[in-house]
Amino acid sequence: MVPMLLNLFLILLLKGTLGDQISATGVINLAHRQSKWTPLMHISANLSEVKSIRSYFQFRTLDPEGAIFYGDTKDGQDWFVLSLRDGIPEMQIGKADILVSVKGGRKLNDGSWYLLELRSEGKFVVLEVNNEVELVVGLHSKLAEEELTGKIRLALGGMLVDKHKLFHPFEPEMDACIRAGHWLNLSRPWDTDKTWEPQACFSNIKKGSYFPGSGTAMFNTSDLPGLQKNEAGITIKIFGSWTGILLSLQSTGFLYVLGENDGGKDVKKVPETLTFTILKTALMVNNKPKLESDSQDFLSMWKNGMLLTFGGKPEDSEGEKGTQYLRGCLEKITVQGQVIDLDRALYKHSAVSSHSCPTEAMNELTS
Ligand SMILES: *[C@@H]1O[C@H](CO)[C@@H](O)[C@H](O)[C@H]1NC(C)=O
Ligand SMILES: *[C@@H]1O[C@H](CO)[C@@H](O)[C@H](O)[C@H]1NC(C)=O
Ligand SMILES: *[C@@H]1O[C@H](CO)[C@@H](O)[C@H](O)[C@H]1NC(C)=O
Repeated sequence: MVPMLLNLFLILLLKGTLGDQISATGVINLAHRQSKWTPLMHISANLSEVKSIRSYFQFRTLDPEGAIFYGDTKDGQDWFVLSLRDGIPEMQIGKADILVSVKGGRKLNDGSWYLLELRSEGKFVVLEVNNEVELVVGLHSKLAEEELTGKIRLALGGMLVDKHKLFHPFEPEMDACIRAGHWLNLSRPWDTDKTWEPQACFSNIKKGSYFPGSGTAMFNTSDLPGLQKNEAGITIKIFGSWTGILLSLQSTGFLYVLGENDGGKDVKKVPETLTFTILKTALMVNNKPKLESDSQDFLSMWKNGMLLTFGGKPEDSEGEKGTQYLRGCLEKITVQGQVIDLDRALYKHSAVSSHSCPTEAMNELTS
């Protein structure tokens, strides 16, 4: 019995440490991850083997914020990360005693493909977009050693150093696609995060959060905008086209599900806006009461923290079969007028795309 267990343990250990390998020259979807900061894929090379300190790739996103490309030397003592913030490229560099953060150039999150090139030119790091220099960062430290020896590591969609090293923190989840990448002229396959299941990229995308019918995104209402003065209740507005459960609200001993037993009534095949209002003792859909209660104070429940789940019921978050999960595109969700970003959810199923919907599937849904 013991040797068998030991064997099993060794097999699991090997499987666990080896992970999988993938080519970094094809189409890579940076979304759909289980863990936020762990890169989708990474590679390590001897600097002596690196012929060119230049990487270029095509990049497409509608997401304003997230991690794109990371590199380091000396096991992360010197590091570099390219991300987006407000749709604009941002570079952060940590080297010896220096931390730098530089943001600039055009917005890239318009859903079209851009050619990005990053290269190192002596003490400068250069970012080009569509063959035009967009950002140049110069860096000098008396403490930094200049010789390039040892290992270089590269990673996509996350970082290999602790997020606390960042000068300017950001939300790492990135709903984006990369293709035709050339990375320091390395041709070997990269190692992937074991939990990652590669997903295709939609050929045409539009703004919105896409729910393919297999999972949810969950918020604690105490993290969302709350009551404003002189205002009656909390208003959630959803614009989009969908079938299945739109949302649910849960707190101890209370569950409300919108869309489950309403037959076809809440099926929105043509994009339109649904208004869900939470009053002290009533829940309203498009200004019609759906649930009234004398015993519950929904507004206190909202303030203290209920679970607001888009796309299903909270207990089904792990992908339970038979649930009427939402299928469709929620083009815009606002709470008290503020746009809600699913990248900031407590939990989001890895199948849900937070910032892009396929235009093809929507045609399927409307036909
Ligand atoms: C890097 O160098 C070390 C020792 O110098 C060597 O063992 C290793 O195989 C090299 N790795 C690659 C990928 O060339
Ligand atoms: C990249 O590698 C290819 C094949 O190994 C080689 O032909 C090419 O010259 C290299 N480019 C650079 C810039 O080193
Ligand atoms: C929601 O947030 C509140 C306040 O921070 C906390 O007390 C509550 O436990 C949270 N609920 C869940 C389900 O995380």
